[in-house]
Amino acid sequence: MPLSELLQRADLYSASRLHNLDDARRVARRRLPAVVFDYVDGAADDEIAVRRNRAAFEAVTFRPQMGSGMLAPDLSVSVLGRDLAFPVVLAPCGLVRLLHPDGAVGVARAAVSRGTISTLSTVAGSSIEEVAEGAGVPMWFQLYASGGVEEAGEIIKRAFAAGSEVLVVTIDTPTLGNRERDVRHGVAPPLRVDPHNAVPLGLQVLARPRWAVQLASTGLRLSRRGAGPSSPGSGMLQGVASPFSWSDVAALRQLWPGRLVVKGVLTAEDARRAVAAGAEGIVVSNHGGRQLDGAPATLRVLPEVVAAVGDEAEVLLDGGVRRGAHVVAALALGARAVLIGRPYLYGLAAAGERGVVRVLELLETEMRRTMTLMGCGSVKDLGPDWLGEPHSC
Ligand SMILES: Cc1cc2nc3c(=O)[nH]c(=O)nc-3n(C[C@H](O)[C@H](O)[C@H](O)COP(=O)(O)O)c2cc1C
Repeated sequence: MPLSELLQRADLYSASRLHNLDDARRVARRRLPAVVFDYVDGAADDEIAVRRNRAAFEAVTFRPQMGSGMLAPDLSVSVLGRDLAFPVVLAPCGLVRLLHPDGAVGVARAAVSRGTISTLSTVAGSSIEEVAEGAGVPMWFQLYASGGVEEAGEIIKRAFAAGSEVLVVTIDTPTLGNRERDVRHGVAPPLRVDPHNAVPLGLQVLARPRWAVQLASTGLRLSRRGAGPSSPGSGMLQGVASPFSWSDVAALRQLWPGRLVVKGVLTAEDARRAVAAGAEGIVVSNHGGRQLDGAPATLRVLPEVVAAVGDEAEVLLDGGVRRGAHVVAALALGARAVLIGRPYLYGLAAAGERGVVRVLELLETEMRRTMTLMGCGSVKDLGPDWLGEPHSC
């Protein structure tokens, strides 16, 4: 049997062994060299914000309202003009091809196969055209406008031509957060391999032969064509640090023919500024705790943002979603949908495209079960009435 088929079968088997999202994390930890796992799993400084995100979900209690006799809740939603089978979108993440050769193409395909959509990061490691051609499915595109509005204009023209329907502008990276796990591996910032760290990193790779064989069998090509020019020898995350102003967002609004989303909002004030700059969508996000470690849990600030924008923009949330019940809680507090980052990256590392499909399947099944146990027939009916004390997250 050819090696590629053997690896695909191994992925299928691995995916079938994932029973929740934390399983995917455990397998990813076993599969990846420590430096790569820590790049995904790590966060800024003392990693407080990342724990806060999750703790806020764990503090939620539901108020079931039984007796409807309903067994098949409707999870479908319309998000920024597209009907999704359930309200979970894949967040933009950098360097996904480091995790598995299926990379961003596999991620985009997995999302569409489960009736949802993925967001291609500026620094995904694959170009917009490569993913659009390889996956042949709709997607969103996320922008780090590090080269200014003019360069961004060129990138987003390509993204639109390649079929991206939503532009996500990330505003929470004026500089890179202090990711101390990357610092300890000698690769930060911004994820650079050089003669000083090559030997310890080489040893980590030798300890993960399956990852090395998988990558070697397809070749590690990390294209940065989506990210604009960067000098040879610069780190793989060059271009992420991108100071922005609201006038840049307004200028991008003029250039982008599709829908525009601002990602990284944590206050009512910024939410109103995003709407004033022309955003039709907002992602309440602290970048998965990878930027400002003192940031609040996203679930806690969600109601403030929802109240600030009213019907003027769709509000999405990410950070710490690890169970279907977490999606239900975010929707009850006013989110239209959630995004997940690390969970699908763990799935990708554990079992390639199949692993991402499995992560989405698990979240959907858990969501359906939670809604049924609550007696709620449709995500459109969710609201604060379905939450018990203390829900004042
Ligand atoms: C490895 C990794 C890379 C990321 N790269 C990007 C990126 O390129 N652009 C971006 O806007 N956000 C990026 N993020 C943040 C995610 O889009 C998302 O906000 C975050 O992962 C959500 O939290 P969660 O991981 O707890 O689901 C990245 C997150 C991770 C874990």
